[in-house]
Amino acid sequence: MNPEVSDHSRPLRLFHLSDVHFGLEDPAAIAWAEQAIAREKPDAVAITGDLTMRARHHEFDAACAWIKGLKAPVTVEIGNHDIPYFNLYQRFFDPYRRFRAIERQVEAQLDLPGLAIVPLRTTTRAQWQRFPWSNGWVTDAALRETLAAIDALPQGTRVLVAAHHPLLERRARDNKLLTINGSRTMEILAGRKVMAVLSGHIHDAFDITEQTPSGPLRMIGAGTLSRRIRSTPPSFNEITITGEEIHVVARNLEHVPTAAMQIDEVPENALPPRQPGEPVAPVGAVPPVDPPVH
Ligand SMILES: [Fe+2]
Ligand SMILES: [Fe+2]
Repeated sequence: MNPEVSDHSRPLRLFHLSDVHFGLEDPAAIAWAEQAIAREKPDAVAITGDLTMRARHHEFDAACAWIKGLKAPVTVEIGNHDIPYFNLYQRFFDPYRRFRAIERQVEAQLDLPGLAIVPLRTTTRAQWQRFPWSNGWVTDAALRETLAAIDALPQGTRVLVAAHHPLLERRARDNKLLTINGSRTMEILAGRKVMAVLSGHIHDAFDITEQTPSGPLRMIGAGTLSRRIRSTPPSFNEITITGEEIHVVARNLEHVPTAAMQIDEVPENALPPRQPGEPVAPVGAVPPVDPPVH
């Protein structure tokens, strides 16, 4: 189905959810998000990865049942926690097998009036550059696939890209490697006039604009609906697109204003901040101990 490119007048509303981590999900948070979707009927739901905690069968069963019950078109990206750890054969040869119940939603492009949500895979089975493999890597093949999908859209279609990892290649503070091939990807997506990249993995929300050699690129991160909170309560993003404008509201269980929910720098991973200078949301809700499972 092609997007109706002529219709830019009606505002579109997306719910951007992430890091539900079934196995360590927050039952109140997922019930709240599910009810909001049923009641408010967003045009689409983007779930940017980490559906499970350990990619176990029972975690996938719960995640897939929950996703199938959502009353909206859904795209699901794959997170680093969704690749089987224990079954090495499956990790390398059939890593997506456990997604079978929702295979039509996994890495699915969503075509809305005048706007497409295009997936970008950032999770890999193995990374020869480093261990562990929890951070992102945009392979040439993954980037090619996403660019081909963008280039096939009718001219004038607005584009959002959905990925699990934020694309920032290096952490500003100490130049630590975050997402391999991230800078090149950001530059190319900015050159394609992508409106924003939606991602997860961090467990705190953000809405930042990075400068690239081919122009600015907006990066929007959703928080988590799990009990693995970093520094803010469980949340999801409500994203409203009107013409070329994007408005992001971080909605959460504790009525904290959006500005207080959003971190202003992409940190290394989902662990709570512990070092001075680590980005911490002003709500200051850093858990007294690290999340029980990483
Ligand atoms: Fe996560
Ligand atoms: Fe992750």
